[in-house]
Amino acid sequence: MAPRGGFSNRLGFIAAAAGSAVGLGNIWGFPFEVGQGGGGIFVLIYLFFCFTLCLPVMLTEVAIGRRTNKNAVGAFTALGYKRWNFIGKLGVLSGVLILSFYNLIAGWSFGYIFEMATANFNISEGFNSFTSDLLKVGSYALIFMLMTSLVVSKGISGGIEKIAKILMPTLILMILGVVIYSLTLPHSMEGLKFYLLPDLSEIKFSTIYNAMGQAFFSLSLGMGALITYGSYVGKNENLVSSVTFITLADVGIAVLAGLMIFPLVGFLTEGSMSGVNSGPELIFVTLPKIFGTIGGVTGAIVGTFFFILLCFAALTSTVSLMEVPVSYTVDEWGISRKKAVVISAIVVFLVGIPSMLGHGFSCFFTEFAQFGDSEKPLNFLGVIMGIANDTFLPLGGFLIMIFASHIWKKENLDQEIMMGAPKYESSLLRKYMHLSTSYIIPIVLFSIFVTTVINTFF
Ligand code: PFF
Repeated sequence: MAPRGGFSNRLGFIAAAAGSAVGLGNIWGFPFEVGQGGGGIFVLIYLFFCFTLCLPVMLTEVAIGRRTNKNAVGAFTALGYKRWNFIGKLGVLSGVLILSFYNLIAGWSFGYIFEMATANFNISEGFNSFTSDLLKVGSYALIFMLMTSLVVSKGISGGIEKIAKILMPTLILMILGVVIYSLTLPHSMEGLKFYLLPDLSEIKFSTIYNAMGQAFFSLSLGMGALITYGSYVGKNENLVSSVTFITLADVGIAVLAGLMIFPLVGFLTEGSMSGVNSGPELIFVTLPKIFGTIGGVTGAIVGTFFFILLCFAALTSTVSLMEVPVSYTVDEWGISRKKAVVISAIVVFLVGIPSMLGHGFSCFFTEFAQFGDSEKPLNFLGVIMGIANDTFLPLGGFLIMIFASHIWKKENLDQEIMMGAPKYESSLLRKYMHLSTSYIIPIVLFSIFVTTVINTFF
């Protein structure tokens, strides 16, 4: 076991890391990004990025964490490159920004448990009044933040591992159930076509950039969350197979979430698919309507259960997001875990307030900014998502790659990966890792980053 306390076994790490990856990003984020990104073409680019670019980044992050037994910032110092620990600091900043809005969406999901339990399927019609009810959403977000804080303060194997192991499989079964139901509905095939058949004419630069951001976000990469989790993994674990499993599980659940939502959109729009690009409210509007069609007590039970599981999926992710600033402050500032949790929770909650206000309550934050070629103004949450998910995470990934392959050197990375995975030495993956970490990934990520900055500001 890793010296500073760690996962109790291999399954514990896989469950916790998959728990970090699988979350609102898969079930809430992926479908609406697909909707806005023109359907199948987005899915294709996303899948391509996950396996060719993100998997090597994940392997590198986990290996750095395990080698150093340190948090996202301390890891760079421990390897002897203190000057590079700004990458970890960027990760801590990304973690705080992401958690600030993620906690709000998790709060909505939490609130929906009660809406579904009282069979309020009409919530879809009143979604805007729900999100602009500051007292309600503020309280839900606060409760969610307290739950996250409680789990994180219990430490690694006590909290995170246990909940992840039971709830992930249940969530998959539940989604499969809804997928099967949704495929039996009229017009479901139109939805499926939109989702699975790539339309090349829909491809824009923003499709590529958003697919990249979504892939990083969904796999929890580019901000040191997996450096942190890697630091709790034992030396005899096979990192290659763990990382492959985590990627497959995460991508698999995102794909399933799409299979669940798009047939439902086909059904609700009678095949026209209008409204599919409606943004972050997509699942909060479509799913209740569908639970409504099941009707009565059964609909209420299914709906309630669904949002309970969604909240658990979100919780295993919020926990990993909070673990980044917490392990940083515990290790580097020498404060107690409890104190670190309290400070992080307060900072994150405060940073999240403008996102909360930006859903109808305050005009200023609701129509916060307009960039590049976007048609309508983005709310505060949209701006933070653009900065953190789509820009900081790929930038973090780029810097980690440059660091690992050119500063720390790929021989050291190899050595760490090979511990527990002896076959890696003579594998094709190793050759691909060398090529991709040194050249392919940095070049792709850097080009996307530069083009994005130009597109946004000029
Ligand atoms: N991967 C999580 C999701 O898809 O919901 C979100 C996330 C968790 C992003 C942890 C980044 C992170 F470090």
